[in-house]
Amino acid sequence: MELPASDTLSSINPKNIPHTCSNCHYGIYEKFQKSIHSPKITKTDKKLPTCYDCHKSHSIERVERGDFRQGIINQCGTCHEDVTKTYFETLHGKVSKLGEVTAAKCYDCHGSHNILKPDDPKSTLSRQNVVETCKACHPNSNHKFVGYLTHATHHDPEKYPYLFYTFWAMTLLLVGTFTFFGLHTILWFPRALKEKRRLNKKKLKE
Ligand code: HEC
Ligand code: HEC
Ligand code: HEC
Ligand code: HEC
Ligand code: HEC
Repeated sequence: MELPASDTLSSINPKNIPHTCSNCHYGIYEKFQKSIHSPKITKTDKKLPTCYDCHKSHSIERVERGDFRQGIINQCGTCHEDVTKTYFETLHGKVSKLGEVTAAKCYDCHGSHNILKPDDPKSTLSRQNVVETCKACHPNSNHKFVGYLTHATHHDPEKYPYLFYTFWAMTLLLVGTFTFFGLHTILWFPRALKEKRRLNKKKLKE
């Protein structure tokens, strides 16, 4: 029954891939079916990932290898562009870019086959689970620590109003201060020259 991948009956058609891999990786398939990326859970026109979007097909690697850990960021990033940009603005992303394998990648926080919306109680990032999730690498993790904004950006007024308005308030203050005193200095300059000339004349007369 070898058919081209585009045929919906083919075992390697995107729709059937999870089922095909499940012949051997059944436990993972079961988890994946309940995640936000499963077409059973999410009805959307956007492309949902299937096994090979994250693992490739003919070059599947051991997942503990450094290049898999580094590469997965780009896999998630092809579909979650904006959020990946914000990841690279924070420490985990910055040190990852410099080649640090141990820094948190997307799946260290979100999970891999069990990804759910972060506010879903079953998500690895829900209020109940997030402390444990960070504890894997930060042994002193507690509720205060997890308040750290892992996707912090000052470009999104809806998600992070404090960062957005603080950024613009501080920028305005900075620009305002420099403009005011810059103008002040420029306007003062001719006056200072005039004053200097007057004092010189006075000295000459004396
Ligand atoms: C959204 C991306 C993504 C999708 C889709 C995905 N995986 Fe994974 N998979 C990962 C990540 C990330 C890891 C590494 C997990 C870890 O080390 O904790 C992993 C690990 C694995 C492993 C080895 C480790 C283990 O947990 O046993 C196997 C086997 C695997 N995946 C198979 C599959 C199969 C089969 C599918 C389709 C049903 C699938 N994956 C779909 C991202 C994905
Ligand atoms: C015929 C059975 C079979 C099928 C079908 C199969 N695999 Fe595997 N897979 C294996 C075996 C066996 C291993 C090696 C396990 C080991 O040595 O720990 C493996 C290893 C893996 C690993 C690396 C696991 C690790 O420990 O890092 C990934 C990822 C993976 N498979 C993904 C897939 C994906 C994706 C598919 C579907 C496109 C798939 N597999 C289909 C049997 C299968
Ligand atoms: C092929 C595209 C694709 C890939 C690859 C992919 N995703 Fe997704 N993801 C989606 C789609 C589509 C949704 C459904 C929700 C939506 O419309 O954004 C989604 C939903 C999510 C959500 C829930 C978003 C919410 O609204 O709260 C998270 C979290 C998530 N993905 C994380 C990841 C991570 C982490 C990876 C990599 C391991 C990954 N995704 C890889 C397409 C993808
Ligand atoms: C896979 C491991 C891993 C996970 C999971 C992880 N981190 Fe990190 N984190 C790191 C590494 C590595 C660094 C860089 C440490 C360094 O070089 O100082 C770091 C740095 C940080 C820093 C910068 C301050 C510091 O301690 O150096 C904060 C804050 C932080 N992480 C918060 C979190 C939060 C919150 C979570 C959970 C949502 C989390 N991390 C999950 C590995 C991880
Ligand atoms: C240190 C832990 C951590 C890492 C690493 C991380 N995230 Fe997140 N992510 C979170 C938390 C916590 C939230 C919920 C709060 C928020 O939105 O800021 C979230 C929210 C999300 C959302 C849903 C919110 C939205 O606005 O759509 C998506 C999608 C997502 N992350 C994808 C990713 C991708 C892709 C990566 C890797 C490039 C990644 N995350 C890396 C912790 C993390």
